[in-house]
Amino acid sequence: MIDQIEESVHYLKSQGINAPEIGVILGTGLGNAFVDHLKIERDIHYADIPHFPEATVEYHHGRLLYGDLAGKKIVAMQGRFHYYEGYSLAEVTFPVRVLKMLGIKYLLVSNAAGNMNPDWNKGNLMLIDDHINLLPDNPLRGVNDNRLGPRFPDMSAPYDAELIRKMQQVAEEKNIDLKKGVYVAVMGPNLETRAEYRFLRIIGADAVGMSTVPEVIVAHHMSLPVLAISVLTDDCDPDNLEPANIDEIIAVAGRAEKPLTTLFMGLIERL
Ligand code: HPA
Repeated sequence: MIDQIEESVHYLKSQGINAPEIGVILGTGLGNAFVDHLKIERDIHYADIPHFPEATVEYHHGRLLYGDLAGKKIVAMQGRFHYYEGYSLAEVTFPVRVLKMLGIKYLLVSNAAGNMNPDWNKGNLMLIDDHINLLPDNPLRGVNDNRLGPRFPDMSAPYDAELIRKMQQVAEEKNIDLKKGVYVAVMGPNLETRAEYRFLRIIGADAVGMSTVPEVIVAHHMSLPVLAISVLTDDCDPDNLEPANIDEIIAVAGRAEKPLTTLFMGLIERL
């Protein structure tokens, strides 16, 4: 795999993507407000990058953006890959390996997730403090390349404590309500049954979604500090469950764009 990563890196460098400091993965319904603040210098279709999987989900644009934000060089993935689309987890996480080899020092991730915490509401933002991997696979399964990371990576703190602390400071300064909790990754693409939400709550999760955990495992494998925030797009109370409305989920994610962009920009300024 390392040869493929190097070929992708070589191509991106040849296109002028040099020494990015921070990588950002823009999740479902998120991104435009953030991208508006990015002084874009390069805009590359995933399809043009050697060994990159191609984006399939309609909400996603499938491009790698490179540019300046708050005086920092940023490389942003507009569109990510999900396991439910049929990719292997090695494919889902390949771009994270490429970004790390391009030189990023931090990875910032956003996603949309269902809210299972009865004290919170849809529209809230949640800093991911820890996760549960219920995907039926692991991106590190198979022969381990020790040049990428260890065979048995520690998972006692996959989300960087310093980044969490800084982000909480930003939230306080900007007066943005930022929850903190546990994210559980499921395969999807269907949403959950009432019994499944009940189960996911009992095992300790506050939010449920179909992404992020593979990317975080791979980033952590490569000793890349990660911060992730979920936009809680729907309330998943098993005793009062409404039919899922994907358009509404996208709309709630859209409404969260502004505060989320403020948080990400505030953090980037501090890095
Ligand atoms: N379940 C899984 N993924 C999701 C949900 C949900 O309720 N909401 C947004 N992404």
